[in-house]
Amino acid sequence: MAFKLAFLLAVVAFASVSATTTTTVTTSVTTVSADEGEEGILSSHDRSVIRKTWDQAKRDSDVPPQILFRFIKAHPEYQKMFTKFASVPKNELMTNGNFLAQAYTILAGLNVVIQSLASQELMASQLNALGGAHQSRGATPIMFEQFGAVLEEVLAEELGSAFNAEAKSAWKNGLTALVAGISKTLKNPEDLADPQTKLSAHQVRDVQRSWENIRSGRNAMVSSIMIKLFKETPRIQKYFAKFASVPVGSLSGDAEYNKQVALVADRLDTIVSATGDKLQLLGNINYMRYTHAARSIPRSAWEDFGHLLMESLAASGVSSHDMDSWKGALDVLVNGIAPKN
Ligand code: HEM
Repeated sequence: MAFKLAFLLAVVAFASVSATTTTTVTTSVTTVSADEGEEGILSSHDRSVIRKTWDQAKRDSDVPPQILFRFIKAHPEYQKMFTKFASVPKNELMTNGNFLAQAYTILAGLNVVIQSLASQELMASQLNALGGAHQSRGATPIMFEQFGAVLEEVLAEELGSAFNAEAKSAWKNGLTALVAGISKTLKNPEDLADPQTKLSAHQVRDVQRSWENIRSGRNAMVSSIMIKLFKETPRIQKYFAKFASVPVGSLSGDAEYNKQVALVADRLDTIVSATGDKLQLLGNINYMRYTHAARSIPRSAWEDFGHLLMESLAASGVSSHDMDSWKGALDVLVNGIAPKN
């Protein structure tokens, strides 16, 4: 039996811009053919079992808040991700308007996903939208897995004997597909930037791994960067009193210059090896910031140094993937040492 099901498909996309969040909502009407064919993900049997049990469970208005409440109870550390009720005490959550709004937002999301089960295309775009909506909020595939486990628990309690082996297996398949679909657009935990250092574990690893191949030649690299820097912007050389007036062409033979090169190269080496350790990294950046602010070195000098370092890294064979991570790391460094304004 084929029947037409029309529903409002709300695709909610948003962009998070530092502290402020902009929300764009696009609404379009989509018609789904919810027939009993084998087109969707999951067997048509699983699909109809999920729809039936879901329709039954969600009739109880306590179910949506229960799902979110149990989820947060099982994983209290996730409450702070929901800024609108991050610090509401546990015993007030079930009556908090923002908490309830979020519970019903999730309900609406689940409704749409479940209504989309019959169409692979629709399902893919739903999961894409959901993954996209959660990516910058820091949600990970594991959190969705944990959410699925809670959902299953609440369904079992709500439905009692109606949540039989058949229903259990259908939901298990459904939740596995949901997590797999969402994971495609969600970031892996290691791609999430640390809120303080702004670097992800992935970036740190790329930078450190590629630096290993280069660090033995770091003095020559730094020297060529400094000479280019002085050629491009002669006044930067003036900050180095000990070799301020040595002609650029003679610098490589100047002892004071070579001491400075070794100092910079070793500091760079230290910072790279510290990037994995948040406190050490922040400590190093602060040290650089205060020692250089005292000499009033302008931000532009750091930016130029960064660009030239990027060029040298590329010339030394660092892959374009690793270069992206270097770019992120150098931005963090420059912003930390010589903040804008
Ligand atoms: C299938 C399960 C889920 C559904 C259907 C769902 C649905 C939604 C929807 C529709 C939004 C609004 C998106 C927007 O404003 O653009 C949202 C926001 C959010 N979700 Fe989920 N979600 C689910 C699971 C999770 C999980 C597992 C987490 C991880 C802890 C999570 C964390 C969040 C956060 C932090 C927000 C932003 C809340 C705010 O500040 O407004 N969600 N969710």
